[in-house]
Amino acid sequence: KVSAAKFRLYSTTSNRPLAFAFDIDGVLKHGRFIIPEAKKALQKLDALNVPYIFITNGGGTMENERAKAISKDFQINVDESQMVLSHTVMKPLAQRLRDKNVLVVGGDEHGQKCREIAESYGFKNVYVPTDILCWNKFIYPFASPPAPHDGLPQSHTYRQKHVDFANVPFSAVMLFKDSANHGLDMQIICDLIRSKDGLIGTESDNGKQGVELHFSNPDLIWTTEYPQPRHGQGMFIEAIKMVHNIRSPDIDLQYKQYGKPYAVTYEYADNLLQQLIKKKSNSTENPMVVMVGDNPDSDIQGANNFGWQSALVRTGVYKHGIPKHEPSVIVDNVLKAVEWAIEQR
Ligand code: G3P
Ligand code: MG
Repeated sequence: KVSAAKFRLYSTTSNRPLAFAFDIDGVLKHGRFIIPEAKKALQKLDALNVPYIFITNGGGTMENERAKAISKDFQINVDESQMVLSHTVMKPLAQRLRDKNVLVVGGDEHGQKCREIAESYGFKNVYVPTDILCWNKFIYPFASPPAPHDGLPQSHTYRQKHVDFANVPFSAVMLFKDSANHGLDMQIICDLIRSKDGLIGTESDNGKQGVELHFSNPDLIWTTEYPQPRHGQGMFIEAIKMVHNIRSPDIDLQYKQYGKPYAVTYEYADNLLQQLIKKKSNSTENPMVVMVGDNPDSDIQGANNFGWQSALVRTGVYKHGIPKHEPSVIVDNVLKAVEWAIEQR
């Protein structure tokens, strides 16, 4: 067991403003289940008027829906501007790729939900792998085009986009959530990487990558209701890299990675947090920001690199031992993390 005292502790002038960034899975929730201390922790911060945001590598929902769900779970009032999901950080890409053809990958309902999220960000021409499978069912022999409605609730039913993909050059592939159909998704992503200028069915003759790649969540493992950590989107990303490397050993795969621990996500989140702090207090002093997370590779590494304090909890991926990325403190749960931070001021 590693004691908190072994780790660097924060010292500051008294009553310095305090703000928090909370990870969700493994800190506030286990799958659908709420971690009981989390409710107390969030309600305590509300009572003290301490600003906080949520940064999760999870995705596949709209920010306002996730804010509503968290509000309901913890009986608090969360606004969508407090919610940074894995793909939230890709919103600015819509400025450049608005009118381009993009393939969004991941999630249930044949990617319909993630398509709608991308459209809400401003992307005008969003396709999903199932659209391509419906266009040519031979593109991957082990997947079948969905039957109409496919037993899904009407409101969430996949809606095919009918186009001739022989005439639709893609500019980018954006992985929004874990793939629910690894074989098909991997085939189409690799086809597009190797294509000539993003056109399905063509092969680049000069080694130029056919499309840009944007991956939202690097987590190899994460925490759910299951007793042991589960593989996340990182598994699929590693598989893409490996398949590409075996098929094209001389060509480096070009891609942009978002999500914790990457700075792009912390910068985006910090911007939201600073606006929230400004709204809540008129202090001009720089606040002490504490990231509370369960994954040293993700939450803690990212927070440390960004210059935030970091509290590692034992309710998720991390259980014991010396973590690879040393947090400011190690505590049993999120309530303990909040209490620790309040004491440090
Ligand atoms: O898919 C979500 C997962 O990889 C991690 O979520 O909330 O622990 O960042 P979170
Ligand atoms: Mg987590």
